Amino acid sequence: MKKNTINILSIIFITCFSLNLFAKEINIYSHRQPFLINPFLELFTNETGIKTNVIYSKKGLAQRLQSEGENSPADVILTVDIGRLYIYSDLNLLASIESKKLIENVPSHLRSPENNWFALSKRARVIAVNKEKIKDGEITRLEDLADSKWKGQICSRPGSHVYNRGIMASVLAEYGEANAEAWAKGLVNNFARRPQGNDRAQIKSIYEGECNIAIINNYYYGKLKFSEDPEQRKWAEKVKLIFPNQKEGDRGAHINISGGGVALHSKNKKEAIMLLEFLTTKESQQLYGEINFEYPVNPIVNPSKELSSWGNFREDKLPIIKIAELAPEAQKIIDRVGW
Ligand SMILES: [Fe+2]
Repeated sequence: MKKNTINILSIIFITCFSLNLFAKEINIYSHRQPFLINPFLELFTNETGIKTNVIYSKKGLAQRLQSEGENSPADVILTVDIGRLYIYSDLNLLASIESKKLIENVPSHLRSPENNWFALSKRARVIAVNKEKIKDGEITRLEDLADSKWKGQICSRPGSHVYNRGIMASVLAEYGEANAEAWAKGLVNNFARRPQGNDRAQIKSIYEGECNIAIINNYYYGKLKFSEDPEQRKWAEKVKLIFPNQKEGDRGAHINISGGGVALHSKNKKEAIMLLEFLTTKESQQLYGEINFEYPVNPIVNPSKELSSWGNFREDKLPIIKIAELAPEAQKIIDRVGW
């Protein structure tokens, strides 16, 4: 190569470098387990050349982000449950995002009014029942679970778990404090045992005959149905799912979300937004169903075949932010009724 060409090439190189035009890396603070997000991230890197580093933790990431302040290396936050996502927003840890794609792909009831967080997938909180013991049509609404007819037949994980606080908040939004509390009291009166265990444990208890009814997130049924452990597959075989509140005029089944946002002090906002956008594309949205039995948020994408085989349902279109806003009041009811 001639000296001139070499000079021109090095000028181009230096310019690209200073303008950050080379492949970048982004750092993700994730409450989602690595096996759930890695397949998405691999596709993202293949398509964009942007590498990703994941810092996974079940707890404490919001506090970490807060204490790191402007020096935080975080670019993207990924989490499950609006209750957890909202904490980031409440602590002012998320940047407001301008993205036509996100506005187009995520319905308005599933994103923040300030455009600082967006749902990426949906999960339905459904009623699982012993299919030999509970006849079709006997339970159609969440409200039915407070009927004394079911005394001693319901199993539940503790009410203060974020999933149950969410569903309590949805009842509170519908009925107001006094009636919501009356429902919760009725529900607790029907418990077969002290609230304990996670969602899977409730299905196990139905299998073991300890109770006939439980409230679970829909994807746990899928995890058990396709578990490598034959024991767990047997638990799933014992139950059927009921999508509550489906009748004409009723509000629809309570849903929650997984979602994400861009860290307020991210140094790679453009790439961070690209990742969120990527997670709402058709390709990614289908993957949520295939990997973890979650529903797409993007209205042009259909749920996976397996999910559709469990039944189609209508969701409660209450702005999901309400679930987070009402959470403290919901928790007070949960405490008062001893759920
Ligand atoms: Fe979960």
